Amino acid sequence: MPPPSTLFNLLKHHGEEHLLAHWERLSEEGRSHLKSQLMAIDWHEIAACKKLVEDRHAKKSVTRHHDFENSSTPSCHRLGGQGTASSEALSRGRECLRTAQAGAILMAGGQGTRLGFNGPKGTFPIATISKATLFDVLLGHLHAIKKRFGSRIPIAIMTSAATDTATRTFLTEANFCGLDADQIFFFCQGNLPAVDAATGSLLLDACDHVAVAPDGHGGMFQSLIESGALDWFRQQDCRTLVSFQVDNPLAKPFDPEFLGHHLLSESSLSTQVIPKLDPEERVGVVAESDGVTRIIEYSDLPQNIAAERLLDGRLRFFAGSIGIHAFETEFLEGIASSQARLPLHIAHKKVPFIDKKGRLVQPSAPNAFKFERFIFDVMPLADSVTVVEVDPAEGFAPLKNPPGAAKDSPEIVRQALNAYAIRHLERVGIMVTPGIDVELDAASIFDDEDLHLIAKSGIFPKNHIDGPLIIRAI
Ligand code: UD1
Repeated sequence: MPPPSTLFNLLKHHGEEHLLAHWERLSEEGRSHLKSQLMAIDWHEIAACKKLVEDRHAKKSVTRHHDFENSSTPSCHRLGGQGTASSEALSRGRECLRTAQAGAILMAGGQGTRLGFNGPKGTFPIATISKATLFDVLLGHLHAIKKRFGSRIPIAIMTSAATDTATRTFLTEANFCGLDADQIFFFCQGNLPAVDAATGSLLLDACDHVAVAPDGHGGMFQSLIESGALDWFRQQDCRTLVSFQVDNPLAKPFDPEFLGHHLLSESSLSTQVIPKLDPEERVGVVAESDGVTRIIEYSDLPQNIAAERLLDGRLRFFAGSIGIHAFETEFLEGIASSQARLPLHIAHKKVPFIDKKGRLVQPSAPNAFKFERFIFDVMPLADSVTVVEVDPAEGFAPLKNPPGAAKDSPEIVRQALNAYAIRHLERVGIMVTPGIDVELDAASIFDDEDLHLIAKSGIFPKNHIDGPLIIRAI
């Protein structure tokens, strides 16, 4: 049976009738599957994607849009400061946590290709001794907040088609890492089709399926609304939502001082940065020009600009983004409806595809373009942006690469977690024998106040730890 003429004509109109090449051999179910996927395609979006491919072929640079000459690094609050501004921020942030007027959004839709781990990144066992997963650690922090402040911070977890089922199954079986089931809202980001790098046409990755990839964490704004997650937060009186990445077990999205700076500044968006020291570090940078603040992704920052230094030796663009952003819900509501204004980014990737004979081909080199929107591209739409600088040893240990890699590997992340634990124990007077692994239980220890109580309890004779230990607060 030939394909329905409406479908064929629609595809022909867009030059994509080749997607029906295997129609005749499909089952009823396969045909219906393919038809509904094709009918749901947003052709305006595809036209925008194809335009990017044309620009790429014409070698039109994406970096052209940034006015580097007139850009600079905006001023930053430094976390952990001693002044009045810091203590006011701290108490404002604590009040916010006590009253639970903030909610969390965890970005867990990435495919984690670089890590090469079989499963969602959040399920990777990262803790030094317990081997607790990234989800255990990150969700554990919310448990520790409940223990300390008596408040329940709601969290929405954004998955993608690539991670959704495995994430839900994992967290359900793990009893939601100690959180209440109704404290978590799952929502799935959207997809965008991949296109063949040579022809600019869409691809099939099964005879009845168009090849798609997650639409980037910038897809969050639309999905937040469509899934009902934003309403869910509103019903719980959350006025501030903090989004953070699944790959950083040292992330402190609910650092009270960060929250306080955000709230006291009345900015619609605040963001955490680390001082970028090496031009090669793969972090986007926060830059400001003409009163507009934006993040320029590392892949869009030309090498010579990334390497420029100020007179004091710091990089000119030193404010490295760690992907932790606080948003006011009112701001989110406004931009959710203007999704189309977020730019698309293009990446050259390996995408398996179906050839003319209906066989699945696994390419050995990049053969296609994928498209994404980035969450931080909303920054220029904010009326004001507050930037807060974090010491990387305190707040940034990203897991990006597989074991053995020179940077951002599991071993390096565990070293950072261990060093963090030892440093904080020593701050409260508990000494650790060198070379020993210690782990702070994320679900019960929020900050040094919890550790002070442990030190005072006298649980460790002579306040000394001389063997591997997981420290839990009671
Ligand atoms: C990212 C940031 C970079 C920042 C760095 C800090 C982007 C585009 N760049 O780089 O500016 O300095 O982290 O570590 O984010 N994700 C989704 N859905 C997607 C894609 C990603 O939820 O479609 C999530 C991932 O699960 C992860 C996070 O976003 O939690 C970061 O994604 P990743 O692709 O690893 O970003 P990086 O290139 O490391």
